[in-house]
Amino acid sequence: MAQKPKRTKSGSAWMHEHVTDPYVKKAQQDGYRSRAAYKLLEIDKRDHLLRPGMTVVDLGAAPGSWCQVAVQKMKQQGRVLAIDLLPMAPIPGVDSLEGDFTEPAALAWLEEKLRSGRVDLVLSDMAPNISGVMLSDQARQYELCELALDFSVNWLKPDGVFLVKVFQGVGFEDFRARMRQAFEQVLIRKPEASRDRSAEVYLLGRRPVAARVAADETAVTSRQESD
Ligand SMILES: C[S@@+](CC[C@H](N)C(=O)[O-])C[C@H]1O[C@@H](n2cnc3c(N)ncnc32)[C@H](O)[C@@H]1O
Repeated sequence: MAQKPKRTKSGSAWMHEHVTDPYVKKAQQDGYRSRAAYKLLEIDKRDHLLRPGMTVVDLGAAPGSWCQVAVQKMKQQGRVLAIDLLPMAPIPGVDSLEGDFTEPAALAWLEEKLRSGRVDLVLSDMAPNISGVMLSDQARQYELCELALDFSVNWLKPDGVFLVKVFQGVGFEDFRARMRQAFEQVLIRKPEASRDRSAEVYLLGRRPVAARVAADETAVTSRQESD
């Protein structure tokens, strides 16, 4: 007979927290694939990120609750491109890739899909598997954040927005400084659905500087050409 797995103290504590968590229950009732949906819903309520007709890229999308929120808020108008290491059950209106965003193939897939235009909103809720070694976990988290930021800088429209999950601690201030160079406005968000004991927060960058400079230069050139 198969042996029951031993329950560790921290495992039981996690299970207790999970079954009593109001957001877990609410997600089940509302048909969301995970409690993470309420983090995006809360940020969207305050910051008005999602509108019909947008092109949204969702990095670290599985199991898919942010995609569900995006499709709903966009009223099925627009497109969502989603990537995750893990498989994700299909969601109508979402084009998804099971792949590693740190690999060139994932970027190539996005670039191919985006041939027809730039992106309104990049969401990154990516988080690496936790090894327990805090410094290396933080370093791996910030590698993902940096890659997501590079992608955003290259692909966002001049009025585009980048929302990224970060963890406060080593690397946070350096990354926030990079965000401040890359965006005209950088805000910090800690939605109520993000557990208090978690160092997780979200940085919200608005109006990418590079895209705005490029748009201004294009406007000047076309004015000069028509003079
Ligand atoms: C917190 S979960 C995202 C939850 C998601 N926002 C939702 O609402 O369902 C973080 C995800 O990041 C993904 N991830 C971590 N590293 C990644 C990588 N290099 N490329 C793609 N996805 C990655 C994980 O597989 C995991 O599914």
